[in-house]
Amino acid sequence: MATVDIRDVRKNFGSTAILHGVSVGIEDGEFVVLVGPSGCGKSTLLRMIAGLENISGGEVAIGGRVVNNVPPKDRDIAMVFQNYALYPHMTVRDNMAFSMTLAKAPKDVIETEVTRAARILGLEQLLDRYPRQLSGGQRQRVAMGRAIVRHPQVFLFDEPLSNLDAKLRVQMRAEIKDLHQRLKTTTIYVTHDQIEAMTMADKIVVMHGGNVEQIGPPLDLYDRPANAFVAGFIGSPAMNLLHGTVQGGAFHAEGGEGSWPLPTGARVSEGQRIIYGFRPEHLRLDGSGVPLVVTLVEPTGSETQVTGRSGKVQIVGAFRERITAQVGETIHVLPDLAQAHLFHRETGQRLDA
Ligand SMILES: Nc1ncnc2c1ncn2[C@@H]1O[C@H](COP(=O)(O)OP(=O)(O)OP(=O)(O)O)[C@@H](O)[C@H]1O
Ligand SMILES: [Mg+2]
Repeated sequence: MATVDIRDVRKNFGSTAILHGVSVGIEDGEFVVLVGPSGCGKSTLLRMIAGLENISGGEVAIGGRVVNNVPPKDRDIAMVFQNYALYPHMTVRDNMAFSMTLAKAPKDVIETEVTRAARILGLEQLLDRYPRQLSGGQRQRVAMGRAIVRHPQVFLFDEPLSNLDAKLRVQMRAEIKDLHQRLKTTTIYVTHDQIEAMTMADKIVVMHGGNVEQIGPPLDLYDRPANAFVAGFIGSPAMNLLHGTVQGGAFHAEGGEGSWPLPTGARVSEGQRIIYGFRPEHLRLDGSGVPLVVTLVEPTGSETQVTGRSGKVQIVGAFRERITAQVGETIHVLPDLAQAHLFHRETGQRLDA
């Protein structure tokens, strides 16, 4: 196990800058998730930590040792990729043993390690099968088995679940988390799925366009997003983010109707242009609230999502109670002001910090 320190890391491909100075401190045994939209540089950063991509600027240290010039095989890390690329002509046992066989480890040590990994992953009954005889989830577990047998200081995962169907993803997500709780190996896990990030991480790193937007425990990011990007990225359905102006002590959305109350103590001034944010689940029906013309009603069973329009502005609400609103009807809504978020209109930075 080890700490991982990423200090002002930069990456250029030719003359194109892809990472603009990323710094993340990862503690020993921590489970850190890198999350962000496609193309933001997650895989590039992970591959730099693994040593598969050279580092254009800054430093990566594993266990206190700067590894910028250390070849991948000497970094004591194990990486699990999206397309886990098992050897089709080898059994599960041989796939898991492969790296140790290559390193000419003694037979009894290999046997012990493969047995241990198979037990941890529930693969004992499948050791003599070939990959084609396994389900997607079982193959994924074999790929993890290959990483576990090496007792690495750090696990690196790059979207390991994206080839699995929705139900299996949820199951494997829980299995990987459980595995981490037992092995306590420092883990860096890349995904573009914010639900995966929220449910698995000790700490989330939100990336966007080659920069870090915010780092923190999942619920901190959810409750106090540092800027409008994180606010819109974390949480599903996404936070409502209305652009508008402070007028007469209330918020008026551009193209919207009615006015939205401001949280008490909000540090905004008359005429200021801001972004007014609230999560769908923090909206409630209130006769004195903003009128919304309902455009879509989506009952999921546990809650009902309602999409509506206030003038030209679209608003989404998620209600735990069964609501009977019909498309075309007008409902009145207000957000829970204790859970409202205000952001600077141009910079997107949180205003009440
Ligand atoms: N070898 C390369 N040469 C030039 N550009 C590259 C190379 N590899 C990646 N890029 C670019 O770097 C950026 C970051 O790519 P990266 O694969 O790290 O994104 P990502 O966050 O992992 O996205 P995804 O969620 O789609 O996997 C992208 O714009 C990509 O086109
Ligand atoms: Mg990627």
